Amino acid sequence: MSQYPDAHVAGSDTPNLDFAGTTPYEDYVQADVLTHLQHPLSDDPGEMVFLVTTQVMELWFTVIVHEWETASRALREDDIPVAVAALKRSVRELEALNASWKPLGQLTPGQFNSYRSALGEGSGFQSAMYRRMEFLLGEKSASMLVPHRGAPRVHGELEKALQEPSLYDEVLRLLARRGYEVPEAVLKRDLARKYEPSPEVEAIWARLYAAEGADERGGGQDGGQDGGQDGELLRLGEALTDVGELVWRWRNDHLVATRRAMGSKTGTGGSAGVAWLEKRAAKNVFPELWTARSHV
Ligand code: HEM
Repeated sequence: MSQYPDAHVAGSDTPNLDFAGTTPYEDYVQADVLTHLQHPLSDDPGEMVFLVTTQVMELWFTVIVHEWETASRALREDDIPVAVAALKRSVRELEALNASWKPLGQLTPGQFNSYRSALGEGSGFQSAMYRRMEFLLGEKSASMLVPHRGAPRVHGELEKALQEPSLYDEVLRLLARRGYEVPEAVLKRDLARKYEPSPEVEAIWARLYAAEGADERGGGQDGGQDGGQDGELLRLGEALTDVGELVWRWRNDHLVATRRAMGSKTGTGGSAGVAWLEKRAAKNVFPELWTARSHV
């Protein structure tokens, strides 16, 4: 029995129309809130898509942080399948995030200039959710909290994320629990600092990836069709590599969009602009997963 019987003829195949208050859709999605959060600062008709694309990306950052926190928790509980499932969801989400560059990828300097001055000192550099993503990837930096001193909730969340183990720290702790020789210095590192690559961790990944070939030849140390423990860790390594690749792509798509829209001008956030972004985009997250490949 419907809550609003007058709006639904039993057996009819048309949707309900009559709701006493807001629709259940609105109660769940809060679309009215979401679609009234757009307040362009200029009269330029092109600003709307710039603003909405930025908001859409913020939403994807939020989902991806949620997935990586789920994965971290699962790793802490030694549940690799749950962690890999969350990472794989995040890979699809990163693809959707990256596809969101489409509307902004070909801005001309003239189009961008039409609303750029209205942005004032506003810059994506001040995105707290992007910073949470970076912290989860192991790219910690206490100074990135400074812009958020005036926003207690955001600052508190970032402070917590700074002090907590990153997703990659959880991976390395799990490797250690599984008998791989992760150095003490890595396991006991200062979590609030940027993760620095370790030759011993690189050697562990190289060994795991080398074992894949051995498995295919039928001589895997754990045997079994899925490669046993090594196979499970290899799947984890590949899911992390997919994440790393797509983060690199986001950074590089952002770099190219910026280069097209403003050349080598300084950024609204006060950086050198493209020259600064080039350095940021050259980095690889989960560094040893990339360098280990040279030794397999
Ligand atoms: C074509 C439009 C865009 C241009 C020209 C642009 C330009 C820039 C520049 C120059 C910086 C360096 C910091 C500064 O001085 O401002 C920056 C940083 C950043 N932007 Fe954009 N941006 C654009 C679109 C976006 C969008 C849509 C997002 C989505 C949220 C975004 C997110 C970021 C983030 C997260 C950073 C910090 C990167 C880091 O810390 O490595 N940007 N952007």
